[in-house]
Amino acid sequence: MNTSLVKPSAPLPAETPQEISRRRFFEKLSLALIGLCSAIVGLPLIGFIVAPFFRKAPREWVTLGKPDDFQIGKTVAVTVNDPSSLPWAGVTAKSGVWLRRVTTDSFIAFSANCTHLGCPVRWLESADLFMCPCHGGVYYSDGEVAAGPPPKPLFRYEVRVVNGEVQMKQAIVPISTTL
Ligand code: FES
Repeated sequence: MNTSLVKPSAPLPAETPQEISRRRFFEKLSLALIGLCSAIVGLPLIGFIVAPFFRKAPREWVTLGKPDDFQIGKTVAVTVNDPSSLPWAGVTAKSGVWLRRVTTDSFIAFSANCTHLGCPVRWLESADLFMCPCHGGVYYSDGEVAAGPPPKPLFRYEVRVVNGEVQMKQAIVPISTTL
């Protein structure tokens, strides 16, 4: 190879003080924008992660209806409003429970969430069973596991009959095998 054809590159012209200060300005502006964007994206994410540790569990009694609204031996779906929900929660403030009237003054409120991975279970009256559509979990009418992957019976809320009303105490429903 003939190196005599390779011309040495010309030295770069020295930057003027104006160019240096303009470059520093844009470097600082870029860093500021990166910091601002990180804060915009990161703060809500951090809030989402830590909020559950500071949120108090709802532990209020909520009314499900009057005793005579429910037939003895029947299991029905009841919609419950979360008393601790935020004003803008909308339909997400509603949840469902399965309520069974066992005797005149005895009720059982089951969580609608499967204890395997939390899918909503359905009550099949003709089979007298709760069925989970996700992985085939099956529960008896008393909430005990009949078949499938659920590790525990359906969660039961506390229920009482007070002043002619059936009331249920809200609770955090334990879901998954690790709880
Ligand atoms: S979530 Fe119900 S069986 Fe898996």
